[in-house]
Amino acid sequence: MSDFEEKVRNALADPKNQGEMADADAVGTVGSPDCGDMLRMWLKFTEKDGKKVIDRASFQSFGCQTAIAVASMATELLKGKTAEEARELTANELTGDLGALPPMKIHCGQLVEGALKSALDQTPPAPATLPSSVAPTLAAALQKPAGKIRIVPLD
Ligand code: FES
Repeated sequence: MSDFEEKVRNALADPKNQGEMADADAVGTVGSPDCGDMLRMWLKFTEKDGKKVIDRASFQSFGCQTAIAVASMATELLKGKTAEEARELTANELTGDLGALPPMKIHCGQLVEGALKSALDQTPPAPATLPSSVAPTLAAALQKPAGKIRIVPLD
């Protein structure tokens, strides 16, 4: 067994961060055109030292063992990274302690990278801050001066 295969086997003995995340901020799903396997990744962000960073990441995979092992490593090493830092990580960097992917397994790592990028694409930008003189909602803005305009919600 190669060194890589042994590390994959060890990672599979105790995969980290497997499962849906109910309170996630973003989720991304990709399928591999090479093998038909699928992987979904959830991200939860938090505020740290004035920066928005990944607090937790989790995954579910209908895929091969390598993809599961890489996703386990990747979801651990994403913690504390900003969206920009996470976006720059390549499939080979997401493998963490597994090391470089053998040529036949590169698409397995790319499945994890693709799910991560898909989730990052769906991450809403940080909410814009409005000056306190501006009404917090459009409806509140329209209601000034009071009583002049009635807003009728549509069914
Ligand atoms: Fe399909 Fe690894 S063989 S992701």
